[in-house]
Amino acid sequence: MEKMVIEGGYPLNGKVRVNGAKNAALPIMAACLLLNGTSKLKGIPELTDVATLCKILNELGTDIKKCSDGSLDITVKSEKNIIAPYDLVRTMRASICVLGPLLGKRGMAQVSIPGGCSIGSRPIDIHIKGVESLGAKVEVRDGYIFATGEKLKGSDVYLGGPYGSTVLGTCNIIMAAVLAEGRTIIENAACEPEVQDLANFLNKAGANITAIGENNLVIDGVDKLNGIEYEIIPDRIEAGTIMIAGAITGGNITLENDASCYLASVIDKLREAGVDIKVPDFGMNIPGSVKSGECTVKSDGNIKPISITTLPYPGMPTDMQAQFTALLSIANGTSIITERVFPHRFMHVAELNRLGANIRNDDAIAIIKGVSSLSGTTVMASDLRASASLIVAGLAAKGVTEIRRLYHIDRGYERLEDRLTSLGAKIWREKE
Ligand code: EPU
Repeated sequence: MEKMVIEGGYPLNGKVRVNGAKNAALPIMAACLLLNGTSKLKGIPELTDVATLCKILNELGTDIKKCSDGSLDITVKSEKNIIAPYDLVRTMRASICVLGPLLGKRGMAQVSIPGGCSIGSRPIDIHIKGVESLGAKVEVRDGYIFATGEKLKGSDVYLGGPYGSTVLGTCNIIMAAVLAEGRTIIENAACEPEVQDLANFLNKAGANITAIGENNLVIDGVDKLNGIEYEIIPDRIEAGTIMIAGAITGGNITLENDASCYLASVIDKLREAGVDIKVPDFGMNIPGSVKSGECTVKSDGNIKPISITTLPYPGMPTDMQAQFTALLSIANGTSIITERVFPHRFMHVAELNRLGANIRNDDAIAIIKGVSSLSGTTVMASDLRASASLIVAGLAAKGVTEIRRLYHIDRGYERLEDRLTSLGAKIWREKE
């Protein structure tokens, strides 16, 4: 096993390009199960989650070729298998996103229940309710979801849960409904840019989805979809993480392919914390129109305390909560973070405290009393974004920080240490 070693205290300076979005890539790759012919997907990041989904899609009769320009050519060769097995699904919860396309195209799906993870119990009841509304028969037994529905029928589907909309739940119902008979209206649809990207991809392939990026999404079923060439949107969480790395080290960085049009909530809070951010002229938050350019992030390292509440898009992303917790641990005063999407997503708190932070976590709230500096030690990563928060903290900490259980970071950030090194960080991998 590998560990990440960071010698903290070096401000990040320079330019870095943001990769394609993991959480757009995964459902779009799964959506290729719905298409006839070959699709060429550009901008797919090199991540272990992407590799896991490739294995599942291979199991499901799909041929995936990596081209010299890094794009993936995906072709369905056989539609016989409908089983996404436990051994693959257990390593990545997002595997659930093959349920919708299998059902929509093959009329049947047998998908292992993904199970919980360190960010919470992560039920799939809304996914099941959604496909049932389209006429599928669903049985949950022996650790699997068995779903059948020879010809799904469009209907009104309400997808709200205790914590708002569901991202992959919305993706699954979109994918189950695109080839269904008639009109489906998803009420309380997730509006995340990655859901919009999936809908835009499917429309380019021949689907008829309207009101993309709105709460009530409309899908009119079509007879078939064809393979296309498509470029994935930039990863707003990777961009936000690098912005925070720049801010916590008192750096000056430029992000290319920046996705700032989808980062309004993050940029707003960083500015409130005293970070100087300049975004491209075309503005932010224009549903359905992804525009990326260059944005700059400049900080003198003096961070003001702020309050943050995570919410579904366009609110503050829960996937940025751990990184903000790290940043605010060195703010000049007390900050409060309320987690409204995954209320138990605070495993990073104890590890940040090992680095000298002063954070108390009660239920879904973290109270962060800023300290003057963090100091390096050995810490343990518990999930993807927790790893990112420990790396961000390590960049600012005095001395050397070692992060164990590094495999989490490779699930969602492509060679993060190389990119941070190019910005002047002292960070490298070692064998444990
Ligand atoms: N929920 C239910 N029932 C369901 C589905 C969800 O109660 O059937 C609850 C969840 O437990 C949670 C809330 O609804 O409290 C929102 O969960 P959601 O379904 O939106 O999460 P997800 O679709 O499983 C995606 C991202 C996560 C990201 C969340 C929230 C992918 C592959 N994953 O998960 O990303 O945190 O949306 O934005 O898109 C990450 O990248 O590190 C990551 C965890």
